[in-house]
Amino acid sequence: MNDGFTRREMIGASALALSLSSTALHAAPAPAAAPQPRRRERLERWRFHLGHAAEIDKDFGFGRDQRTFAKAGVSADAASPKFDESGWAEVLVPHDWAVALPFAQGPARKDSDRGAAHGFKAIGRDFPENSIGWYRTPIRVTPADRGRRIWLEFDGVFRDCLVFVNGYVVGRNESGYAPFRVDLDDFLDYDGGPNVITVRADATLGEGWFYEGAGIYRHVDLVSASPVHIPQWGTVVRSDVDASGATVHIATDVLNSADAPVDAQLRLTLINPGGQTVTVNEPIAINLGAGEQRTVDYDAHFAAPQLWSIEAPSLYTVRAELLAMDKRLIDTVETRFGIRSIRFDSQHGFFLNGKPVKLLGTANHQDHAGVGAGIPDALHRWRVTQLQGMGSNAWRSAHNPPATALLDACDEMGMLMIVEQRYNSSDPEAVSQLERTIRRDRNHPSVILWSLGNEEPHQATERGARINAELQQHVRRLDPTRSTTFAMDQGWDKGVGRVVDVLGFNYRTNQIEAYHSRHPDQPVMGTETASTVATRGEYANDPARHIVRAYDTEHPWWATTAEEWWTIVADRPYIAGGFVWTGFDYRGEPTPFDTLPSISSQFGILDTCGFPKDNYFYYRAWWRPDEPRVHLLPHWNWPGREGNPIEVWAHGNAEEVELRLNGRSLGRKTMPRNRHLEWRVPYAPGRIEAIGYNGSRVVARDVRQTSGPAHAVRLTLDRRVARTGEVVIANAAVLDARGRPVPTADNLLRFSASGGIVIGVGNGNPNSLEPDVASERHAFNGLAQAIIRVARGPVQISVASDGLSASRMRIVAV
Ligand code: GAL
Repeated sequence: MNDGFTRREMIGASALALSLSSTALHAAPAPAAAPQPRRRERLERWRFHLGHAAEIDKDFGFGRDQRTFAKAGVSADAASPKFDESGWAEVLVPHDWAVALPFAQGPARKDSDRGAAHGFKAIGRDFPENSIGWYRTPIRVTPADRGRRIWLEFDGVFRDCLVFVNGYVVGRNESGYAPFRVDLDDFLDYDGGPNVITVRADATLGEGWFYEGAGIYRHVDLVSASPVHIPQWGTVVRSDVDASGATVHIATDVLNSADAPVDAQLRLTLINPGGQTVTVNEPIAINLGAGEQRTVDYDAHFAAPQLWSIEAPSLYTVRAELLAMDKRLIDTVETRFGIRSIRFDSQHGFFLNGKPVKLLGTANHQDHAGVGAGIPDALHRWRVTQLQGMGSNAWRSAHNPPATALLDACDEMGMLMIVEQRYNSSDPEAVSQLERTIRRDRNHPSVILWSLGNEEPHQATERGARINAELQQHVRRLDPTRSTTFAMDQGWDKGVGRVVDVLGFNYRTNQIEAYHSRHPDQPVMGTETASTVATRGEYANDPARHIVRAYDTEHPWWATTAEEWWTIVADRPYIAGGFVWTGFDYRGEPTPFDTLPSISSQFGILDTCGFPKDNYFYYRAWWRPDEPRVHLLPHWNWPGREGNPIEVWAHGNAEEVELRLNGRSLGRKTMPRNRHLEWRVPYAPGRIEAIGYNGSRVVARDVRQTSGPAHAVRLTLDRRVARTGEVVIANAAVLDARGRPVPTADNLLRFSASGGIVIGVGNGNPNSLEPDVASERHAFNGLAQAIIRVARGPVQISVASDGLSASRMRIVAV
């Protein structure tokens, strides 16, 4: 795809574009109102219909005959502005159509996993009727737009897609994860006629061995700018922090896509994290020939910068404004950045602003209950919050570049991020994906590393080394401020391991020490660690039901428990940290059970809804050591097991933990650092309690109580005030008559929202084949979740269940 500016921009295509030194920016017909210097509009509302990958009649005329591309503008019926899409579904983007498909098993074939990898959704070659998605949306174009540059910015579409405007094919993109841009202005009707964008996305083929979703699952923006403008990703900000403060280097690309030279000026305004203007430069004069693009450099010095950090993620903004010589504003772009220093050290790990920071990370796919890959912005934030609650400070976007919305959340919330490439090759398409990703992401202070790839078959080979050396050259060119890494599961001494800056170990944490002694000058970390499998709220393995106990004991052969890897990494400063595989359970790659009804992995520290499993509290104890905690497992509902021993664990960081059953002390034990405590307790219903002591002082407690039958359902919301259009996360817990959680409850819960829409539900059960796009869901071990989009206020959210008292809460929509 394009690499930031296109041939059309370079040569300047519009005869109507005028020199900036003249008085009018736009030619006839005279604009009704002066156009804004730049307009950016998020295209959220689309119409959607499934097409067909094999039957042309069901694919809206696409490929009807061999002349599909014979004439411009007539490739498919559904791309025509006159096409009637009133029968299509109304959807909001981010949208993932795969999440609404039924579960199905593909035909048995040699070497086929029958769809396990993608979570047994009926998509792919075996389901051509579900694998093509068509989207249409009208866009607003006025006479004032004539002569301007108008383009679409897609943050990610899964997958192979064609973009049409008014019937014309205007762009194509084959990566499901890299951002891309499509120019529209030649093809628009500026005189009041319809202007319609159509996207045909083909999700027949996958790029991952995990659930990937389908469709326009990230944001799309429509941008309109003057022919003289700052191109997409045209501002790059780098900062050098030293004892005297910080020097901020701002490089701004300015493009004259008109066919005459222009004189203009670039004014840069720096705005501090509090919103105050701190510097405005003397406008810099620029003269650009027709079709010329130039980079304008500007340095600003801050004597006392507010550094971006995990604890205080301070964000500055640079406003770049292009002015005509008479000072009229031609274009304006705001770019957020952080001032901070990062480095990896082979002896002392990772440093942020000169201080060592252990990377307490998780690796995650982009998938959540109810919505699949189409994660709304507020849900991205909520997921970051859940991980931060455990003390995590770093996220590896596995195995693909993340959504911009997630990076924005990480910038704002102080979560470090590794951005990973999906396709580890050096062919032009793969390089283009890398380039687009880096150009999009390099101003985000949260991004600390570029991961070139993960466990590629060529990882330990000379060819792999060549490919990644080539990619690394591109990284150095596009972003000399960050290092590279690669997640390797073998052959670390060879191939790619000899190319990248920071060596990533997938599993085999116990081999890092020997590697480090062989390569003492190379920083090293765990790019995938642990991989404990657990079913939330379950405490006995039950292979027949695809259930794994949630003690920290179960893992596949290549992996370890949480305790095994963290005790290695915690005490070795040279290991920069580790990224647990995974933070959240994800659809697809169902492990340890890879047949139906298992549709998701059980690797997560949290389940697919973001409900914590018990290991969450192991990490929380040792990743937030200054906050005393104890956590007790299992639950205490074991009817029929009276008198039989139950395996009781405490996670926690108090110096000692005492266990009490129904008020009687079962003794006090010293908590070994970075480990846990265990007892065998003959079951008696009632109350089991862990009491944490530092010295003689009680610093933490946790209690499990035998509950009575389900009596009520309780709703909790992630927040009570939300903007119209945002989502809120509604969690439901089943309680007994005395308000105690019922840890085994599986009641059918019905969510509703007046003034809002329930867009999806989940319960974290890796073996549930209930639909996600629904408003009801059985509780799984006492819990369920709904994602609710706020339409307009007042919003009332309710959850009800037959025989249980219901719960409702209001939200103020602003
Ligand atoms: C790794 C791989 C991950 C996931 C994981 C399962 O090898 O990088 O994507 O498949 O194993 O344990």
